[in-house]
Amino acid sequence: MHNQDTDFQTRLNFAQIDQTTVRSLKTLWPIIQPALDDVLAGFYAHLKTQPKMAAMVGDQQARLVSAQKSHWEKLFLGGFDQSYRDSINRIGHVHYQQDRTRPLPDRS
Ligand code: HEM
Repeated sequence: MHNQDTDFQTRLNFAQIDQTTVRSLKTLWPIIQPALDDVLAGFYAHLKTQPKMAAMVGDQQARLVSAQKSHWEKLFLGGFDQSYRDSINRIGHVHYQQDRTRPLPDRS
């Protein structure tokens, strides 16, 4: 097993995410999925109350909503598999890059 695999498994263990959790997430998805449009509309409306975040989102909201939908689907249905891990690593990098190039104001 590669070190990164061991790390990931250790984190899952610490978060007490096991096969029971994976099964529960799958059961919940039919409840979550129909609510996602509203939840994400609320999420981006909230982000856009901050001018710098509004500028980051710009005209990309439709694309970001669709990217988030596939993220949440992977989280609920993917059983924390390799494709989920690749995806969250990419998402982390994208946000880190955004933050570096367009830092948000300090918290007061
Ligand atoms: C629950 C929290 C969040 C999730 C799950 C999430 C998810 C995602 C996903 C899946 C992408 C697409 C990544 C890709 O292209 O592969 C993305 C991109 C992006 N996110 Fe988020 N995001 C979150 C929070 C935020 C916040 C707070 C901001 C601040 C404004 C933000 C701004 C952006 C921007 C600007 C991009 C586009 C980057 C680019 O393609 O140039 N996100 N996000």
